[in-house]
Amino acid sequence: MKKPPASTTPTALRQAFAEATAWLALACGVAVGGAALAQGTAARPADVAGSAPAPAATSTPAQAAPAAPTAAQGPRPGDPAAGATKIASCIGCHNISGYQASFPEIYKVPKIAGQTAGYIVAALAGYRKGERKHPTMRAIATTLSDQDMADIAAYYEQLGKQGAQPVPAKPAREPSPQVAKLLAQANCASCHGANYAAPIDPTYPKLAGQYADYLYVALKAYQTDNNRYSGRNNAIMMGMARPFTHAELKAMSKYLAELPSELKTVQQTQFR
Ligand code: HEC
Ligand code: HEC
Repeated sequence: MKKPPASTTPTALRQAFAEATAWLALACGVAVGGAALAQGTAARPADVAGSAPAPAATSTPAQAAPAAPTAAQGPRPGDPAAGATKIASCIGCHNISGYQASFPEIYKVPKIAGQTAGYIVAALAGYRKGERKHPTMRAIATTLSDQDMADIAAYYEQLGKQGAQPVPAKPAREPSPQVAKLLAQANCASCHGANYAAPIDPTYPKLAGQYADYLYVALKAYQTDNNRYSGRNNAIMMGMARPFTHAELKAMSKYLAELPSELKTVQQTQFR
């Protein structure tokens, strides 16, 4: 992992990370601050395959894979300290506030600090298996062993807890009557928690405080079928998202994003 010297200025740091992740940005269509750096290359997996392991090559350990192949008995419980040494390829996107992805549209890269560890593992496994089709995350997930995923997830979960305020058990603000009706219609709280920050299962996500534009893209992904490069196949959420119009998904996303939770983007400049 590339650790910049502690004396480095934030600007120099940003630049160093920008360089370190430039290949990713170019290959995968992710742009800083919405700059149209790599737009147009996003949907072509040939670009991804050119500089990163092909999404389908789950059994081939990539050059970049930092850990030994997973033992037959499965991963040990996630170790945050081990995870901290394995996130070099994540921070260039997930640890820059407001960093934007340009595929399948422009939206903010999701907050993963403070997310439930079980869900982070489930999401990464979904990309590796191809149930989640986002090409960049698929290419990245194929470089991770089960142990890497467990460690990285443990690391990001505790990262959100540092300095966090307790999250109220009930939503801190009431939705508009329109949004309240939509949320009640599919009983979203029954799985994601009354405050949308306390999911009933550790493999389910916190939604409160996530970026609104990302929530909207994620919800639309569950409506997207028969597309090789975008969409998500989770059976539960496909059923949940299907009945809604895009405008309705957007209204729910906007409300959920305004609620408090432990989800956050921890800036790379806070890393030593
Ligand atoms: C090039 C930018 C980029 C890099 C590097 C990157 N990600 Fe992502 N990540 C994204 C984007 C964009 C998404 C949203 C994809 C989608 O729409 O499904 C995402 C989604 C995720 C999700 C799912 C979040 C959710 O709420 O469902 C997890 C977990 C995740 N990334 C973890 C990682 C980890 C761990 C690493 C490093 C090993 C990493 N990412 C590296 C851009 C990146
Ligand atoms: C029966 C349980 C259940 C219900 C009800 C439910 N969800 Fe989910 N939700 C899940 C699970 C499980 C996932 C993870 C799916 C995956 O792995 O892709 C999820 C994922 C999501 C995500 C993706 C989060 C991310 O970080 O990528 C969003 C957004 C979401 N749900 C919103 C909603 C909304 C809005 C409703 C109500 C309209 C709802 N959910 C109802 C179980 C549920």
